Amino acid sequence: MLQIERASFAPHRQSTAKSLRLSLASSFQSVWVAEKNEGGTNRIVGAAVLYPHKNRLRIYSIAVDPACRGEGLGNAFMSKIREIAENRGCREISLEADASDTRLVNWYTQQGFTFLKTLPDYYAPGEHAVRMTARLV
Ligand SMILES: CC(C)(COP(=O)(O)OP(=O)(O)OC[C@H]1O[C@@H](n2cnc3c(N)ncnc32)[C@H](O)[C@@H]1OP(=O)(O)O)[C@@H](O)C(=O)NCCC(=O)NCCS
Repeated sequence: MLQIERASFAPHRQSTAKSLRLSLASSFQSVWVAEKNEGGTNRIVGAAVLYPHKNRLRIYSIAVDPACRGEGLGNAFMSKIREIAENRGCREISLEADASDTRLVNWYTQQGFTFLKTLPDYYAPGEHAVRMTARLV
């Protein structure tokens, strides 16, 4: 998971080994991974960290190994996350995304998310995020 973090996010946006361990040990957060069997060995190729809140499931982090992107794993994660949220009786799923990453924001839009608000300087000075939500029926 740490390798995927390092390959996916700038250093100041990465979860540390300590925070990943805390997520894995947490009774509040849930961590989901995608594994690929390569030569008889399973390797983690994607991970999502979820924070359940009252009526809302927050995607804290989602990332796929760069070598495995574009193969549908992100879509599979989003389907699973939607299923988890529905099973918990949540009314919505929320996330924060890099406001300057048009491809990512478009992907979330395709996944049914809509823009809620801009979070100025969310990652660092000048690095804004957008909060997006998907309503569940
Ligand atoms: C966003 C991400 C999880 C999607 O996972 P994935 O397994 O590539 O997703 P899928 O194969 O199901 O769908 C591919 C779509 O993801 C979108 N996408 C967004 N960012 C992308 C990226 N950096 N690389 C590839 N696809 C990306 C594209 O729209 C792509 O559709 P296209 O092939 O028609 O262009 C993955 O690209 C990733 O880990 N990005 C870096 C980490 C990140 O930004 N996470 C979100 C934090 S809020």
